[in-house]
Amino acid sequence: MTDPHRQREDDRPEERQASRPGPAETSLDVGAATLEGKRSQPAKPRKPIFELSGVEVAYSGKVAVRDIGFDIAMNEITALIGPSGCGKSTLLRCLNRMNDLVPGATVDGTINYHGQDLYASTIDPVEVRKRIGMVFQKPNPFPKSIYDNIAFGPRVLGMKGDMDEIVERALRRGALWDEVKDRLKTNAFGMSGGQQQRLCIARTLATDPDVILMDEPCSALDPISTGKIEDLMLELRERYSIVIVTHNMQQAARVSDMTAFFTVALEDDGHRTGRMVEFDETQTIFTNPNDERTEAYVTGKVG
Ligand SMILES: Nc1ncnc2c1ncn2[C@@H]1O[C@H](COP(=O)(O)OP(=O)(O)O)[C@@H](O)[C@H]1O
Ligand SMILES: [Mg+2]
Repeated sequence: MTDPHRQREDDRPEERQASRPGPAETSLDVGAATLEGKRSQPAKPRKPIFELSGVEVAYSGKVAVRDIGFDIAMNEITALIGPSGCGKSTLLRCLNRMNDLVPGATVDGTINYHGQDLYASTIDPVEVRKRIGMVFQKPNPFPKSIYDNIAFGPRVLGMKGDMDEIVERALRRGALWDEVKDRLKTNAFGMSGGQQQRLCIARTLATDPDVILMDEPCSALDPISTGKIEDLMLELRERYSIVIVTHNMQQAARVSDMTAFFTVALEDDGHRTGRMVEFDETQTIFTNPNDERTEAYVTGKVG
């Protein structure tokens, strides 16, 4: 089992400075300016919402990721980065038990959510997915009206309250209300890609989650729509916790507080599995990482 605090202890600044050249004014391609705002933020006590320890996921017995241990805090944006196939989506799906729906997938180790074992037999996966929403790479609205897309989850769950208010609140939180309030009954497919993705985010918000998982939510969007989603994420952080998988290093640097870097490691038995290399504050990962593999990835030398 991996000690979830190991990465943080390994990474005490004095050790880094003893073993490495000083903080890089580096050539890291995300640029100092992107990270500037983070530097001045006072350190807040982190309240873990998920605690992962010794997590291993296999598909039909073949291990895809192993030895994953870190924690995800409330009101933070946590980025999962690393090369294709290192297990980012696999790990993300563990956090709302979506892997339960993948035939042959098994999850070992411990994932605590609010201090409770997420995989305990007493936990209802449907309730979990209501509390922990998910947004995918390609916007996937239902072929229904904007209104019905948002109302769908609350109706299925039998949520109490005025549906018009539930819909308006979710669309406001999704930064979409002003753009769509006059066409709520029109089909969601008439919206732009960026609007559709904000609709999908608003749809997850309608069931009152506390975590939103996003798997490369902007990779199908243009830069302006991407900027709107990033702004929205920063707003949503006030109220929710967000875990985002992204291939875009600038995006991870711009929006996330903490970053976990994964890689694909060649095991002794010849198999390749995903492993976490390091987990730390985003600023550290991008300017003064502990591990040379992280540095090579964030500077674009590999990956
Ligand atoms: N549904 C699945 N069935 C079998 N193998 C899978 C499945 N999903 C992912 N994998 C395998 O697990 C590993 C990690 O994949 P994935 O989590 O998609 O990585 P990433 O999101 O980092 O690109 C890969 O080797 C991939 O082939
Ligand atoms: Mg993926």
